[in-house]
Amino acid sequence: MEKVLLIIDDSKEIIDVVKGIIGGLFDRVEFSESVEDAQNKLEANVFSYMVLDINLKEGRNGAEVLRFLVENPENKNNECPVVILSGIITAQFIEKFNSKFAGIVTKPFDHDEFVQMTKDILDAKESANYKDIPTATCELPFTLPVLEAKVSKVMEQVRKNTKLKELFHNLNIDRNADNYIMSHVGMLINASTAIAMKMEWNTEKTLEKFVYAAYLHDMALAERPDLARIKATAIELELMQEKMTPADHKLVLEHALIAANTIDGIPEIPADVGMIVRQHHELPKENGFPNRLSYVKITPLSSVFIVAHDLTHYILENPKWTVKDYVVKAKNKFKGPHFAKVLSALSEMN
Ligand SMILES: [Fe+2]
Ligand SMILES: [Fe+2]
Repeated sequence: MEKVLLIIDDSKEIIDVVKGIIGGLFDRVEFSESVEDAQNKLEANVFSYMVLDINLKEGRNGAEVLRFLVENPENKNNECPVVILSGIITAQFIEKFNSKFAGIVTKPFDHDEFVQMTKDILDAKESANYKDIPTATCELPFTLPVLEAKVSKVMEQVRKNTKLKELFHNLNIDRNADNYIMSHVGMLINASTAIAMKMEWNTEKTLEKFVYAAYLHDMALAERPDLARIKATAIELELMQEKMTPADHKLVLEHALIAANTIDGIPEIPADVGMIVRQHHELPKENGFPNRLSYVKITPLSSVFIVAHDLTHYILENPKWTVKDYVVKAKNKFKGPHFAKVLSALSEMN
């Protein structure tokens, strides 16, 4: 979309200065020297960024432009970031219009700061425009009212994280409702948070980690639901090698590390999520991949996630699944105190 800057100032000189400093960041620059003209322009065009001088001449005030936007919530420019140019801004003014402006530039301007601020605001605006992440819809194994209330609140917060939106925006996920990845994500959120709550690990912080991990654990396989379906021990995966291309085999083997490394580089995602994702295919009898970790090296949070993940595969493969049948099988597969606790919580959910 064309990036258009609107400068509202009654001084041609200032318009030229502002244009000289940040004009290069836009495709086109327009200006208004009066409140009326600015209002006409705002009715007719869509701008990407607005620089507004607060003290216009003849007693007219730039605040009128802000008031115009507040009073016309349907105006096309209501999402447009407004930066205020001013010598002095009163506390009263800030209180009144704070939500309307994206930044303040005090005269005389520091050129570099003004440019940097503009870049930051434009970047933030772009990421806020990322489409929402696709909804995880599927039949859920656990329908507990408390769980639903608590987890949907956490999910709502997680889904607002612009970093997560950005990651999803870059993933080529088929957005239709019965997409494998998204049903797997939905079921995994439900199963991991249900187990965590049963274990009384029910702080929002902890639940949030499982929601993030569920969304992101198979991100490296977003375009390959066929590979995301693979549930295997390290040895089984080795045996599958013959039937796979070397590239696919490598991708399956490394997908947890690829995702974890990306997550570790994003401070907006809670600590531990990277570890949960890194370990999601490990199995406590040293037969998971990629690192064949022993149960002592698998963290308690990862243990919950690994069981929840295994359970969701089991559910998808066995339409007549029951928790009881699953726990019997799982007891042979997992070992160590963390896994024992997880399985005992799960068996109580019968
Ligand atoms: Fe995976
Ligand atoms: Fe998975």
